[in-house]
Amino acid sequence: ANGYFTFDPGFMATGSCESDITYIDGAKGILLHRGYPIDELARDADYLEVCYMLLHGEAPSADEYAKFKQTITHHTLVHDQVNNFFRGFRRDAHPMAMLCGTVGAMSSFYHDDLNISDEDQRLRSAYRLVAKMPTLVAMCYKYNIGQPFVYPRNDLSYSENFLNMMFSVPAEQYKISPAVARAVDRIFTLHADHEQNASTSTVRLAGSSGANPYACIAAGVASLWGPAHGGANEACLNMLQEIGSVDRIPEFIERAKDKNDPFRLMGFGHRVYKNFDPRATVMRESCHEVLAELNIDDPLLEVAMELEKIALNDEYFAEKKLFPNVDFYSGIILKAIGIPTNMFTCIFALARTVGWISHWHEMLSQPGQKIGRPRQLYTGHAQRPFNKIDK
Ligand code: SDX
Repeated sequence: ANGYFTFDPGFMATGSCESDITYIDGAKGILLHRGYPIDELARDADYLEVCYMLLHGEAPSADEYAKFKQTITHHTLVHDQVNNFFRGFRRDAHPMAMLCGTVGAMSSFYHDDLNISDEDQRLRSAYRLVAKMPTLVAMCYKYNIGQPFVYPRNDLSYSENFLNMMFSVPAEQYKISPAVARAVDRIFTLHADHEQNASTSTVRLAGSSGANPYACIAAGVASLWGPAHGGANEACLNMLQEIGSVDRIPEFIERAKDKNDPFRLMGFGHRVYKNFDPRATVMRESCHEVLAELNIDDPLLEVAMELEKIALNDEYFAEKKLFPNVDFYSGIILKAIGIPTNMFTCIFALARTVGWISHWHEMLSQPGQKIGRPRQLYTGHAQRPFNKIDK
């Protein structure tokens, strides 16, 4: 480009990939996991069934599901030394900082599944990660609020177990509402995988160097943390709280349109979807169900619904193809369940771990895998002499 050398636009960055896992049609708002439509999975499958199909390629039979669930259930406990990691954090550490640290540290505990060229070891590390993320996320929350960690229970479902580890205390067991457990399970499913998004591409690039699975997932957690990506659900709820009431919406809509104002409507827009995010449609249904079930009249939902209506009828948003994405409604559901905003991205990371590790496993299963090396367009100086200075 600068005459120094020509850039071959056709050059395939080795960070690109082929995958059978997820298909997205951004124009038509289609999202398939292993060919199964996301709305059908969110309504008729549970999260562990989705985990199985992402990892193994097909929906499980009843026997395969039972065996997989048994395996995951028996890997939910973390090594007791992990408790000591938390003691090193400040009590007010952001949960994502603690999650990033503890996930990466898991590689120091599980040395029997670090041979990434062995498929069985790859799957064992994948199962361990899917099983232990809820335990680690709940530990981040308990450490933040100064309550004792709650051990996983094998008699509960995946989502019930997570809720129990989050909200039970020694003096009183948390009363699990089936509707809440179902909503949490659906949130996990709707966040499970999303093709080559920023954090999944991060995991693939880290994995292409041969890094161990726990280090790769820690890299995914770090990438997801950004407010343009997984941090959007926390940022979206903070934005709804800042808007505060329906009559202040126009002011924020105008700010979002102002090129000189860095403000963006969090929970709106998407890199790929240019008509609607199919996950937001299902999430909105769950939002109404959970609030009705819990008999919660949250004014933020009213603000969110009005914001969506105004934005969808505004020519700027129509022209820029901006509409609610997966993060727009999830925060309202999580807040209704009693989960603090600073935990939202941890929950996204919990749910996306299966997507990350499925892509990692798929990549390492492909023959001739090379280290990723995305290319650049050099726009710097042409070669020039260095003039030594008299220091
Ligand atoms: C996730 O990739 C994935 O699949 C991610 C994800 C997943 O499951 O992994 O789906 C999860 O990250 C969902 C996105 C969550 N992020 C947010 O909700 C943050 C708010 N959204 C924006 O930051 C933004 O929409 C992005 C980051 C999501 C996409 O940014 P892009 O790629 O710049 O969007 P675009 O090219 O479609 O933008 C078109 C125009 C641009 O203006 P112009 O440069 O053409 O003048 O719309 C503007 C953007 O500036 N725009 C917005 C906007 N989003 C884009 N203007 C106001 N508010 C917004 N939210």
